Amino acid sequence: MGFATNAIHVGQEPDPSTGAVVAPIYQTSTYVQESFGKYTNGYDYARTNHPNRKALERCVAKLEGGLNAYVFTSGMAGIDAVFRLLRPGDHVIVSESVYGGVYRLSTQLLTHFKLEFSFVDTSSIAKIKAAVKPNTRMIYLETPTNPTMILSDIAATAKLATDHKITLVVDNTFLSPFLQNPIALGAHIVVHSMTKYLNGHSDATGGAVILTRPEDAEKIYFIQRSAGAGLAPMDCFLVSRGIKTLAVRMLQHNANGIAVARHLDTHPKIKKVLYPGLPSHPQHDIARKQQKGPGGMIAIDLGSTEAAEKMLNNVKLCSLAESLGGVETLISHPASMTHASMPADVRKRIGITDGLVRISVGIEDVEDILADLDQALMFV
Ligand SMILES: Cc1ncc(COP(=O)(O)O)c(C=O)c1O
Repeated sequence: MGFATNAIHVGQEPDPSTGAVVAPIYQTSTYVQESFGKYTNGYDYARTNHPNRKALERCVAKLEGGLNAYVFTSGMAGIDAVFRLLRPGDHVIVSESVYGGVYRLSTQLLTHFKLEFSFVDTSSIAKIKAAVKPNTRMIYLETPTNPTMILSDIAATAKLATDHKITLVVDNTFLSPFLQNPIALGAHIVVHSMTKYLNGHSDATGGAVILTRPEDAEKIYFIQRSAGAGLAPMDCFLVSRGIKTLAVRMLQHNANGIAVARHLDTHPKIKKVLYPGLPSHPQHDIARKQQKGPGGMIAIDLGSTEAAEKMLNNVKLCSLAESLGGVETLISHPASMTHASMPADVRKRIGITDGLVRISVGIEDVEDILADLDQALMFV
């Protein structure tokens, strides 16, 4: 079956007890035993598992081409579960301009458990190779990176990782499985903030971990049910509902993203537009090779905090807010919002300048988005 068909039907078979076309929300914490030690359909307690979670996990695994998927209360909870596959003394290579929350989790929490992290420019395979140590167990790529839109070559990194018996993890949040398939390119594990495109409606948080190896899947399921960060029934229902329109939404995000990036690229007030679909993007060739489209995320540099503030205070249709991937256009200032937990010198080194503004282009009529951005830029 095709992508859109799978997104609508996998895990969403009509409810066998009532015939309901949409699976009901199983808002229960516990399940009655049929008799001593015997559970109906294998469900016992909602931390461990429940039908809405199982349905969503089946769908996400299918869309990413994985063996199994497990869903968590947020992207960060899923990413934390992946790092728990490691042992004290293990070393991880991480894309240096990774999402600020991953930077904070690794540098301020996981280092206390004796995990070692190197933040590397993973757009260069030579730099990844140079960072590999005898205790390197994981390479963690975010491609494109949030918010600097830097790409890493997934297939080349997968080959390097596999040759060195290193696990390759790819955060596919910015593109979704509709536009990029890291497992088909050799990644061992894929992670998502489902809060973004997978859900797509900015009304739930969630994370997904998609696995290709049974031993990893077993461990992630153990972590999910032991640590208790599995996604709740209502949120699974919302994300499952959102995923049904992922294909049509991504087509529109992609089309609007291209139109907005091209328009802003010619705007005199903008110093730089970072968008993988523009030939000026440093990894435009990688985008053409591994992505099915450039997507709906754009970063622009306005040169200073003051200029960014003027623009952001004057948008009307676009919402000045954290997060991305919703149907509505969201606009933010990474240095003071999503990446505030990163030290200023690190931000500067990786290109999160004070004038950088991130746009998550929604699926409104594109002329309305362009008109709003243009009128806000008049104040800069
Ligand atoms: C690329 C990326 N990965 C992971 C996360 C974390 O996801 P969540 O906010 O759902 O915990 C985010 C959040 O913005 C993100 O942008």
